[in-house]
Amino acid sequence: MTIRVNDVEVEPPGDARVSLLDFLREELHLTGTKVGCNQGACGACTVLVDGERVLSCLTLAVQTDGRRVTTIEGLGSSEDPHPLQAAFVEHDGLQCGYCTPGQICAAVAMLREIAEGMPSYVTADLATTPVMTDEEVRERMSGNLCRCGAHNGIIDAILAVARERVA
Ligand code: FES
Ligand code: FES
Repeated sequence: MTIRVNDVEVEPPGDARVSLLDFLREELHLTGTKVGCNQGACGACTVLVDGERVLSCLTLAVQTDGRRVTTIEGLGSSEDPHPLQAAFVEHDGLQCGYCTPGQICAAVAMLREIAEGMPSYVTADLATTPVMTDEEVRERMSGNLCRCGAHNGIIDAILAVARERVA
């Protein structure tokens, strides 16, 4: 079996104890994924596995065997940024940038979760598709912390992309 990381097939680590975070950073040198708390509390290490957001510090690399892993490097580039990457720049959704890869990976999955009708703690009506509001986005992104205080810009950037998709 192999892991498909950013559309490249790679061998899983031989040591089953290696976290996905360490595998990405130390073995594949994909250092866009950041180490924050290393214990599931900050969201800095968020990546996508088969399109769903996961905390790579709490995931063993071997658990992604046969699956598709996408990191910030796989979403876009300076020359061809993902719409969320461009929006974060436009809306000042970052200061030091340390939390940004995790924020953007989480936001990619979060937008899909809303589009698929997954409710959150603050969704008022569970019988209808959740409405994209500031409150919904803040609740759904609450697992991704920003120590710089760029939260307002982050929410503005995500809402801007969400509105473009609806329009
Ligand atoms: Fe994984 Fe903080 S480094 S949640
Ligand atoms: Fe610095 Fe978020 S931009 S931690």
